[in-house]
Amino acid sequence: MASVAVIGSQWGDEGKGKIVDWLSSRADVVVRFQGGHNAGHTLVIDGKTYKLHLLPSGIVRKSKLSIIGNGVVVDPWALLEEIKTVRDQGVDVTPDKLVIAENATLILPIHSVLDAAMEGARGNDPIGTTKRGIGPAYEDKIARRAIKVCDLRDLDILKEKLDGMMLHHNALLKGLGMDEVSADDIYTKLMDVKDEILSYSGVVWRVLEQARKDGKKILFEGAQGMMLDVDHGTYPFVTSSNMHAAQAATGSGVGPDAVGYVLGITKAYTTRVGAGPFPTEQENDVGTYLGEKGHEFGTTTGRKRRCGWFDAVLVRQSVTVSGIHGIALTKLDVLDGLEELKICVGYELDGKKIDYLPSSQVAQDKVAPIYETMEGWSGSTQGARSWKDLPAEAVKYVRHIEELIGAPVTLLSTSPERDDTILMHDPFTS
Ligand code: GDP
Ligand code: IMO
Ligand code: MG
Repeated sequence: MASVAVIGSQWGDEGKGKIVDWLSSRADVVVRFQGGHNAGHTLVIDGKTYKLHLLPSGIVRKSKLSIIGNGVVVDPWALLEEIKTVRDQGVDVTPDKLVIAENATLILPIHSVLDAAMEGARGNDPIGTTKRGIGPAYEDKIARRAIKVCDLRDLDILKEKLDGMMLHHNALLKGLGMDEVSADDIYTKLMDVKDEILSYSGVVWRVLEQARKDGKKILFEGAQGMMLDVDHGTYPFVTSSNMHAAQAATGSGVGPDAVGYVLGITKAYTTRVGAGPFPTEQENDVGTYLGEKGHEFGTTTGRKRRCGWFDAVLVRQSVTVSGIHGIALTKLDVLDGLEELKICVGYELDGKKIDYLPSSQVAQDKVAPIYETMEGWSGSTQGARSWKDLPAEAVKYVRHIEELIGAPVTLLSTSPERDDTILMHDPFTS
């Protein structure tokens, strides 16, 4: 297929950055289509680490076009800081290489204030957001009071819109007993960044139309993962966007048929950052082992990730709901040395066996995982670059996952390094 959409199939941090970076050698254009700088995508190339939040993971390759689509919420200050960081690492970022959709929504300083305030108001039951203002910015977009990139061009409208937005938010801040935020202050801050942001802005749907006409290969890069999807995830413990493959179309301005092969990035076990249900969580030695061996600390906030066994029920659900054609299985090497491995193959809820995660918060809290136990392996998969280098038990584990989730393993990743990757089927030609 001419296009591939990469999406997370669990609760994020599955290794999307590494896989997008690897696949981008076969693509011409890489497009982020949702989320914001709540994302943290790690690339390791010849021992050098890049941590990307808003910039598409194709940015490190010289001849690729990177696009931030309309579905992304863009914090201009965070973006410019990130551009500076990667430039300092030797990456070239110019308007020839990076296009930001002129209809993308801006995250403004008020949004992180509101994010923190709403988390505080949730008292003992916070979501555990990244406090980057993601939720409040998407709220403003849906409420039709958001500032778009293109508004930076029309200063009268910008001022008017900011006044309207702050009238709304200051009423809330007042109700919470907090200091008001001035629209003028935000306006002044925007004046510092508008020219640079506008230098990257473009009509992304037309850029993609041309790319498709020219036969270019497009790689859509999702952030987060299906269990954090605002419709299909563990609501309300989710983020405020859809990471469903269909969002690749909506969030960039192409038709659904242009999305192509849907590649679900899937960790060989499960992690989650922030609060919310996690049926296979291991708050014991196993969880500690996975966390330490897998270096499971958030790329964006540095928070410790919660760790647990592979949940085939959840991944099967993501495969079905999002139309995943195949998966890239990552971090298999983290399981090296474990004597036995457990895989969740169903849940027990009120004495009955079920094979999906229900939507109700009460049910999600109550489900008990039903496990199958598999033999681990004493050999190493770390850094393996060929299927034949894998211990027999590791092959069995991978094959069993394919069977349980109803999708083939297209790529297998065995270390953070770009080239420690085994290709089973090329998604661009599948
Ligand atoms: P993303 O948000 O999905 O892009 O994932 P993150 O970058 O937040 O987290 C994944 C972490 O696992 C990063 O530190 C990667 O460098 C690392 N990683 C990716 N693939 C592998 C792998 O196959 N093995 C190991 N050990 N680490 C990996
Ligand atoms: P990548 O792209 C893991 C989680 C937060 C919190 C919830 C809501 O690196 O996989 P938000 O700030 O979005 O309102 O927080 O979503 N979260 C992520 N968890 N990986 C991410 O992105 C995440 N982005 C948001 O921890 O639980
Ligand atoms: Mg991440």
